[in-house]
Amino acid sequence: MTETKVRPDLWPVCAPAGLRDEATETRVAALLAGMTVEEKVGQIIQADIASIEPADLLTYRLGSILNGANSAPGGDNHAPASAYLALADAFYEASVDPAGGAAAIPVLWGTDAVHGHNNIVGATIFPHNIGLGAARDPDLIREIGRVTAREMQATGMDWTFAPTLAVARDDRWGRTYESYSEDPEIVAEYAAAMVEGLQGALGTADFLRGEHVIATAKHFLGDGGTKGGVDQGDNPATEEALRDIHAAGYPPAIAAGVQTVMASFNSWRGEKLHGHRSLLTDILKGRMGFDGFVVGDWNGHGQVEGCTNDSCAPVVNAGVDMVMAPDSWRALYRNTLEQVRSGEISTARLDDAVRRILRVKVRYGLFERGRPSGRPNAGDFSLLGAPAHRALARRAVRESLVLLKNNGGLLPLDPRGRILVAGDGAHNIPKQCGGWTITWLGEGNVNDDFPNGQSIYDGLREAIEAAGGQAILSEDGRWREKPDAAIVVFGENPYAEFQGDRRHLDFEDEAPLRLMRRLKGEGVPVVAVFFSGRPLYVNPEINAADAFVAAFLPGTEGGGVADVLLRRPDGAVNHDFTGRLSFSWPKTPTQTPLNRGDPDYDPLFPYGYGLSYRDPKDLPRLDEAAFDPSAEDGSGEIVRAGRARPPYRMILSAGDETVAVEGAAATTADGRLRLRAVDRKAQEDARLVEWTGPGRLAVEGPAQDLTRQASARMALVFSYAVDVAPAAAVRVGIECGERGAGLADMMETFRAAEGEGWRRAEILLSDLVAEADALRAVVAPFVVESDGPLGLRLSDIRIAMRERAGAQASQED
Ligand code: BGC
Repeated sequence: MTETKVRPDLWPVCAPAGLRDEATETRVAALLAGMTVEEKVGQIIQADIASIEPADLLTYRLGSILNGANSAPGGDNHAPASAYLALADAFYEASVDPAGGAAAIPVLWGTDAVHGHNNIVGATIFPHNIGLGAARDPDLIREIGRVTAREMQATGMDWTFAPTLAVARDDRWGRTYESYSEDPEIVAEYAAAMVEGLQGALGTADFLRGEHVIATAKHFLGDGGTKGGVDQGDNPATEEALRDIHAAGYPPAIAAGVQTVMASFNSWRGEKLHGHRSLLTDILKGRMGFDGFVVGDWNGHGQVEGCTNDSCAPVVNAGVDMVMAPDSWRALYRNTLEQVRSGEISTARLDDAVRRILRVKVRYGLFERGRPSGRPNAGDFSLLGAPAHRALARRAVRESLVLLKNNGGLLPLDPRGRILVAGDGAHNIPKQCGGWTITWLGEGNVNDDFPNGQSIYDGLREAIEAAGGQAILSEDGRWREKPDAAIVVFGENPYAEFQGDRRHLDFEDEAPLRLMRRLKGEGVPVVAVFFSGRPLYVNPEINAADAFVAAFLPGTEGGGVADVLLRRPDGAVNHDFTGRLSFSWPKTPTQTPLNRGDPDYDPLFPYGYGLSYRDPKDLPRLDEAAFDPSAEDGSGEIVRAGRARPPYRMILSAGDETVAVEGAAATTADGRLRLRAVDRKAQEDARLVEWTGPGRLAVEGPAQDLTRQASARMALVFSYAVDVAPAAAVRVGIECGERGAGLADMMETFRAAEGEGWRRAEILLSDLVAEADALRAVVAPFVVESDGPLGLRLSDIRIAMRERAGAQASQED
């Protein structure tokens, strides 16, 4: 493939004056001169702590490690902060151990502190970027950066993969909430502020010193503009649009001295960014003058044409200086070394990459900082969720709330009244934090995992009780004594990255709508507080409520909601709403992309919208569009309630014959395989498949790449019940086209399940294939092959995170 030609003269020049200094360059040159080629290759590779031990650094002198969002000391996402610091010390000690005469170059630890130091239990969790965008407050952003850096230092980490400078243009994208705005204006304004907060202000003695860490501008370039909002997809923008929209945050970040830039998973006009020499080298480093280093994204190199996770000279040649090879680092090291020896990667390019990494390490004072536990703030775990940090986060929550409706001036509520607090988000800190919180998807956490957090209910209760009122928590909204008003808290459940991609913007959970309608029917005024990582179509919900607040993903400080929703006991406004939408709000579930400046721009609420107490206005009833939810989301579901989700379809095959399952029943001509709809919890929400002889059931779809899911340790998860135990071998797995099938033996599991009711099976994708590469083109993500009679019921099938580590099968209901 030939790369799209770029025109460097179209791009801004933005290298900051005064960043480059001779002393640093001389020192870097001396270090470089003393390194062996093995040490240099090690320096440009980053491994994940789930796949490397400190002692490995004695042999492989890697430049960096990271804790990916699902990786933690001892594999325990809820590990104490002290375990992170101890591990940081262990990696550091190994990296500077002079074993074998190696140069003592301290290792850098990178982490995704993207809304606070969010992998650590007890940390202050700030609103996700979408909410911060609504705040329109660069000073707040700078402070958040500062506080995040301090909390990181407590655990001995050096480098955060933040800020995300994506300009999300299609809200179906699962990373919309990581974007400050659909408009480059806010992203550009915040980029410098966040870099300054994290790294310190360039030109001051504080820059990369004292209470500061290293920042990353990510993901370069065009991540927010992929077609259809498909994560890691293709951005078809013109070069001008790429520059003006998607690159808007980079010049200010570079001018503020950002030290690292992360290459993006996406392509630009068919060419993966990781392999894009003109954008990475000619534009970013050449024209824009970025002199820090470019880090790759999680096995992002493996997606470049001609590459695998284990081997990829093209990305180094294109300009990636440090390759993020979480689990593939060992093989990548071996192959990269080989490629340097053979000249496929030139010594000049290798030296340039290493020089950039060393430059950042020297600038950051890494050689003088010593072991992580001896550095400023290290081990001071009282910084995690410190009162001043929480107060800042609470302010951020107040500023991020956007009031969409307040009919009859229902808000602010009188705290002296009886207030019902309802909905599944009312007392649910994991839900208010969203993805990238303790775990990657933000799943698997409970309120107790947030010792320094406060749910929305707890925040309301504190203020209401202090004023002499009564706060009643009732998730389902049932009450005994009629409340004066109800606050119903609901919204999207946590997700991250491609796991959150959708095909439409309909908010599908109907329970809160029913709940609000019931309360209204009972004569209770209703305030809706909506959590979401993006604007969604919620017209019915807005109609059902008297007041509606878009709260986005506010983080741990639920009290910030109470600060604005409740008036003072004396009747005065406590805090007014100041948040204004940084994303346009759609009129229908399919009105996307929808962005300020579109030629036929016609949103429900435009960019910049937001009511306030000072300026009251009633919202008329909204149209409630009939919507066919068969335009499915992309949440990894393959079969739901017995039905293959489009574009998948079920196929039965026996011998040479194949039959596509069209309706609720299908049979092969020889009668060897029969499928019919049966009931599990609802009418026809499962399928019974009966084999009388050898045959196969497959759920097929367009070829899809599941390598990313495999490296994120995701599994094929399905619900099944066994009516008739297998009489011969039976295998379950996936079909990878030319690369054959990846199947697991399920005979014993299915035998043990006969007549035992519904169970759930979870098979790690990585256990199904010998080489992750085989998952590059999966044509059937679910296959059952039985060599003999079997009676198997199936209801739901998906690619998802495992719920129970280690458990292959377990009882469901
Ligand atoms: C994400 C990055 C993140 C990296 C490391 C990737 O999946 O795209 O944003 O920094 O993982 O956790």
